[in-house]
Amino acid sequence: MCCYYFCFSILFPVFPCFSFSFCFFFLSCSSIAYILLIFINNYPVKMSKAKSTYFCQSCGAQSAKWVGRCPSCGEWNTYVEELISKEEKAPWKSSTTRQVAQKPKHLDEITYDQQQRIATSDGELNRVLGGGIVPGSIVLIGGEPGIGKSTLMLQIALSLSTVKVLYVSGEESEEQIKMRAERLGTGENNTYILAETGTQNIFKQIEALEPDLVIIDSIQTLHSAHIESSPGSISQVRECTAELLKYAKESGTPVLLIGHITKEGTLAGPKVLEHMVDTVLQFEGDRHMTYRILRTIKNRFGSTSELGIYEMQGSGLREVSNPSEILISQREEKLSGTAIAGSLEGNRPLLIEVQSLVSPATYGTPQRSSTGFDGKRLNMLLAVLEKRGGFRMGTQDVFLNIAGGLKVEDPGIDLSICASLVSSYEDIAIPSTVCFAAEVGLGGEIRAVNRIENRIAEAEKLGFKEIYISKYNKKGLDLSRFTMKIHACGKLEEVFSILLG
Ligand code: TYD
Ligand code: MG
Repeated sequence: MCCYYFCFSILFPVFPCFSFSFCFFFLSCSSIAYILLIFINNYPVKMSKAKSTYFCQSCGAQSAKWVGRCPSCGEWNTYVEELISKEEKAPWKSSTTRQVAQKPKHLDEITYDQQQRIATSDGELNRVLGGGIVPGSIVLIGGEPGIGKSTLMLQIALSLSTVKVLYVSGEESEEQIKMRAERLGTGENNTYILAETGTQNIFKQIEALEPDLVIIDSIQTLHSAHIESSPGSISQVRECTAELLKYAKESGTPVLLIGHITKEGTLAGPKVLEHMVDTVLQFEGDRHMTYRILRTIKNRFGSTSELGIYEMQGSGLREVSNPSEILISQREEKLSGTAIAGSLEGNRPLLIEVQSLVSPATYGTPQRSSTGFDGKRLNMLLAVLEKRGGFRMGTQDVFLNIAGGLKVEDPGIDLSICASLVSSYEDIAIPSTVCFAAEVGLGGEIRAVNRIENRIAEAEKLGFKEIYISKYNKKGLDLSRFTMKIHACGKLEEVFSILLG
């Protein structure tokens, strides 16, 4: 406006008529342009340009340009262009609260209501979640396809008779879910099924139904109309989770999300979402075996060292409250190469059976095969046995298996692996009443492990008579609590001299 007055004041004394018409023309042109601008600004969706970004389909890293190798996760050829168009309005109606500047408060000034967790009838799930489902929390259950995620979620929904559950499925039809529910046994339940993938409609139905718990099967099938990329792409998965997160936090309704992990990486893995959600549970196990493990990866409301064990049966998943009894095979005859380990999975002591087969290699390079245990650590233990124990493992084929399809990372099973390998090598069976709980170091030394009392107590409960532990674990151990014989050893040779006689 200033410039108009400036023109006017300069031109008016010189050419009064010309300057008047010129200024009117100029003013009318600019006001038309101004009105046009307002018009454009009021329709941001129609006029906004489609924006695209490249996302790594493996880790979710973002880049403005295509790159061959992801700088974040190091994977090759994982960048895919995805269209993003930004829109002002969020799909989940946000409360139009004004942004109030927050002031810092003293910790003592802050009060909170003791939240009432939803305790499911599934003891294993409650344990893993740290005592039930927290209101307003968002839980991600990840796992490979076919492991039993949908079965577990539906089972939980059906078991909650007083809680109104909305089970949203983008993978199966209502009829398929009904069939599965009948297989699992529909008792007294308050479960509603919605076969839908669009988040806008899902939120509409949620508003109408007002459920107490929402289950989404699966996050990779959902799509939001506010993002143009296809369902399952990183940006869609992220956007849909953000919408659900907003809903959960604003309404206080907990949301359980199912997420797939695929080896091919065609669907976005839940890795991208781990930082967005409150709790991440991993459902793992061998699809061909009956046992499944539900493990906590992240938990804002409880411990991450919890673990739930299930058995897949014809009528769904059954909780396994005494896993050790099932994992140890009931052997009649004595077999060489079998040893029992007093392991710890999460906070739970677990007795597991280690089986190995050591036989002379028929080809030049001996074979090494390990199921359920890290292959590199097996090689290390073989080298320790060769160097410190004098066993010629370098000329032998070695096959190792952890019974029950479990994957064990606890170093406390090292000694049982060494014992099992030597037992098979020497073809001498280890008595069925003996077990082991110690780590083995590179010098052949027997190292201490954590929570040794729990391991010994579990072994004693299951009727074992002898246990081999590290002599460093014996210090501070209340031996009077246990009736079983405790061999506290410092070196591998000591173990074998007692064991092999
Ligand atoms: P599912 O829950 O569909 O796996 P996910 O959702 O993780 O892809 O279940 C997978 C397997 O479970 C399937 O192969 C069939 C088996 N199953 C049973 O053995 N018993 C049952 O009662 C049910 C419902 C499934
Ligand atoms: Mg499923």
